[in-house]
Amino acid sequence: MLELALNFHDDLGALNPHLAPIIEEAKAHGRRIYLRSVEPRDRQKIVRLARSSTALHHPWIETPKSNALFNQYLDRIKGKNATGMVVCFKHNDEIIGVINLNEIVLGAFRSARVSYYVSHEHHGRGLMTEGLNLFTTEAFISQGLHRIEAAIQPQNIPSKRLVKRCGFHYEGLAKGYLYIDGKWRDHERWALVHDRDTVGV
Ligand SMILES: CC(C)(COP(=O)(O)OP(=O)(O)OC[C@H]1O[C@@H](n2cnc3c(N)ncnc32)[C@H](O)[C@@H]1OP(=O)(O)O)[C@@H](O)C(=O)NCCC(=O)NCCS
Repeated sequence: MLELALNFHDDLGALNPHLAPIIEEAKAHGRRIYLRSVEPRDRQKIVRLARSSTALHHPWIETPKSNALFNQYLDRIKGKNATGMVVCFKHNDEIIGVINLNEIVLGAFRSARVSYYVSHEHHGRGLMTEGLNLFTTEAFISQGLHRIEAAIQPQNIPSKRLVKRCGFHYEGLAKGYLYIDGKWRDHERWALVHDRDTVGV
């Protein structure tokens, strides 16, 4: 059973046999959840999750709280510079969170910025720790990244605790780094760096 539902990446292990154990490891980690790509059919569920969790998400992240915003989001993650995945319960396939990879840049940089949010109903249960660990492991493999960054507002303690648990290290404060909810907001930059010594997968 492929828990990490990224079937289009399955052939990576066959193409490059030394990746197979890494892919197996990535699949094995999700005890309670799995990841799959966001699809158009997720519109209603994600919009509902975003609307019902505003108190938890504000002012840390902007989420698709309407069909129009979801469509814009879908267009963005269909492009080559971003991806989006839903975190789903294994036992009933319920979507409990979303994790995105933004601003994917390859070449000598091989970097991207991760963003994420959980449903208010499933906050504080360790589910996003499972999700983010799976997500970063998969992203390093499938995207051939060297670095994954998270930009976090200094007061956003749950998010800082999450990235620390997932092995990110603090790199510094970026003044007015992202425009969120009508303001340029300072962000702490956290990063997870892969120890690959080559470019690409
Ligand atoms: C950031 C965010 C995704 C973190 O979600 P979360 O639910 O705290 O993360 P986890 O699912 O990993 O849960 C971790 C907590 O569950 C607790 N927990 C409870 N049961 C657990 C279990 N069985 N296993 C592991 N941890 C468990 C952990 O102790 C931890 O709490 P702590 O940080 O106080 O020690 C969430 O706060 C969120 O959506 N915030 C709004 C959006 C946002 O800020 N996005 C990021 C912008 S930079």
